[in-house]
Amino acid sequence: MLWYLGFGVALLGLIYWVALQLFSRADPEPSFSNLLAASATPALPEDFLLGAATSAHQTEGGNERNDWARFEAEGRVVRGEQSGRACASWERVDEDVRLLRQLGANTYRLSLEWSRLEPSPGVFDEAAWEHYGDLLTKLREAGITPMVTLLHVSLPGWMAERGGLAAPDFAERFGLFAAEAGRRYWAMVDLWCTINEPNVQLFMGYVSGEWPPEKKSPGELVVAFAGLLRGHAAAARAIRQISPEAQIGVAMNLISFAPERRAWLPDWLAARFAATAYNWAFYDAIQSGRIRLRVPGMSPVDEPCEDLLGSVDFLGVNYYRRNLVRYSPISPGGVQIKSGAREKSDLGWEIYPEGLLKLLRHAWSRYRLPIYVTENGIADASGERRGPFLRAHLYAVARAIEEGAQVLGYYHWSLLDTFEWHHGFAPRFGLFRVDRDTLERTATPAVETFQQLTSPLHPDDF
Ligand code: BGC
Repeated sequence: MLWYLGFGVALLGLIYWVALQLFSRADPEPSFSNLLAASATPALPEDFLLGAATSAHQTEGGNERNDWARFEAEGRVVRGEQSGRACASWERVDEDVRLLRQLGANTYRLSLEWSRLEPSPGVFDEAAWEHYGDLLTKLREAGITPMVTLLHVSLPGWMAERGGLAAPDFAERFGLFAAEAGRRYWAMVDLWCTINEPNVQLFMGYVSGEWPPEKKSPGELVVAFAGLLRGHAAAARAIRQISPEAQIGVAMNLISFAPERRAWLPDWLAARFAATAYNWAFYDAIQSGRIRLRVPGMSPVDEPCEDLLGSVDFLGVNYYRRNLVRYSPISPGGVQIKSGAREKSDLGWEIYPEGLLKLLRHAWSRYRLPIYVTENGIADASGERRGPFLRAHLYAVARAIEEGAQVLGYYHWSLLDTFEWHHGFAPRFGLFRVDRDTLERTATPAVETFQQLTSPLHPDDF
């Protein structure tokens, strides 16, 4: 009897050990540490796109017809701040293009503000369309390839009123807007990002309820998830019809989830669950052509959506941090999130460049799609930490390329200090600092780092 018991325990121990080995081999720790001190210039391919990103509502100023304007007016942002003039980028197009040139950037990711372009359903504002057309022309004249995002968080007020992402006609309306953008700009834009961070938008809007529409509703979360997928499919189809050569993707917010206790299998399982639900569910749905989601406490959805198949040409990766995961039976999905022990940004996000390499490896092996790092940056009011951060993360990109992943570009978040959603203006992400009173832009020390990184990419004209 005792013998059987001993044998059983030993067998279980062996299975446990083998499972741990399998998990850690599938997610090896990169062998470079202390990356922030690395001073060598990462070697990037000659045709690599290297630039900066912004979004409309966070920089333009004067966006009063979207759901965020209302949310801000109701005092929902910290300190009651409102985006107001933001960075006044709407009026400072020439200056911002000059800043990109000063960086030596050969690309710029921007978003179109849907509420400006279509102030009420089916009614287009010609002057606003011309404004973006002018910006795109200026970028191209400056040798800067634009990547255009069609939906970066803010929704037109009229769309929000009829249910936002969960409205029955969200996908159709978004598809029509995308068709209009494609029709007008196809000759100037090759890189399209239909949606920015659907996972963040869903989490903040329908799980934590910190963003419009401020819900905490698993039922509406599932409807909004399906709405975003259908919306993406409709937008991609519309752009592709007009411009078959267009390269289309979705920018996902990817977090490097790691088990808090590496010798404790439940932490590995919880980290795996967090990554599958948060990082990969949206692209998995696109790849499988099925709207599939399981939310604890809800009956799962699983329905076909053929238009998803082949709707993306690249994966957009927005990377900011690592989260440690501890299994906790009382937390939703068994997942309890903690921050790691390394240095943190001003927002308390752990700085972990190795996480970018791990995610690029994972994304490449999971989808075999070309990748753009569509955002990466640090909230750093001092401006001193941004240069080393940038270098270390580009080093991770260079390593991923060396290992065989097809990473085609990198966009630093952000060109300017932007309106950081519910955090207001306090977190400073800009390569250029923006004075909150005068809106004057001044270079942070990271501009010099950026110039060192971009100069090998166009040795003739820099
Ligand atoms: C978003 C940006 C935001 C940045 C920094 C990303 O999640 O796409 O809009 O400003 O993170 O918080």
